[in-house]
Amino acid sequence: MEDFVINKLLTEKPVDETMKLYSTMAQMFNDVAKGSNYHFPEILVKEFLSLNIPHNVRILDVGAGTGNVGKLLHASGYKNIDALDGCEEMLSYAKQLNGVYKQFITAIVKSDTQLPINDRTYDVVLMSGVTCPSHIDVENYQQIFRLLKSGGIIGWIKEDDYILGRNSERYRDGSYQKSLEKYLKEKKLIEMHGFNPKRIPNATLGRPGDLYFFEVQ
Ligand SMILES: C[S@@+](CC[C@H](N)C(=O)[O-])C[C@H]1O[C@@H](n2cnc3c(N)ncnc32)[C@H](O)[C@@H]1O
Repeated sequence: MEDFVINKLLTEKPVDETMKLYSTMAQMFNDVAKGSNYHFPEILVKEFLSLNIPHNVRILDVGAGTGNVGKLLHASGYKNIDALDGCEEMLSYAKQLNGVYKQFITAIVKSDTQLPINDRTYDVVLMSGVTCPSHIDVENYQQIFRLLKSGGIIGWIKEDDYILGRNSERYRDGSYQKSLEKYLKEKKLIEMHGFNPKRIPNATLGRPGDLYFFEVQ
């Protein structure tokens, strides 16, 4: 399982190839996640709940996949959640979770394409396991910032550089963190104390995960 995740799923390739890969594995995604000791949705939602954000906020789950984040948010009292994913087959499983998500948006986050969502629509964006090679590149986060209201919160969790750096130099030697710093300098993101990143042990594949929360200007 570890070899498939690290050397196939998390390698540099065009995002359309990544979408094809997810469409072939959608049916077994939750089993792959279990076999990888993948705890990202639980960790992200637990840390989000610690922020005590009101239950009526409008949330977008980016890279929602089979709906693991939405399921936990919904069970914790958040009922205004939409799901976005580039892979229809993955979303088809999220659609079977009756009533967890209000709307489903099939769209790929890419540098040159504007997402079919109005500016400043959401109070919160969450991304679990999607900020990694051949998924959503750090340079394309701007496409997502646009969707957040001023003062809105964005949070995500990703594998550490030990895993992501194996097959991608963009995740080695602090490159990822440097790209994020650019957004902080430009004041597009405002740091939330302790979350840039917060390192969480045993998050996936027995390795720590890096958890981020920022406020968006
Ligand atoms: C590892 S899965 C995570 C699913 C879910 N968030 C979870 O943690 O269980 C990554 C998901 O992100 C989606 N994805 C990857 N890159 C994307 C992109 N650029 N735009 C939209 N969706 C993307 C994939 O289709 C897949 O469903």
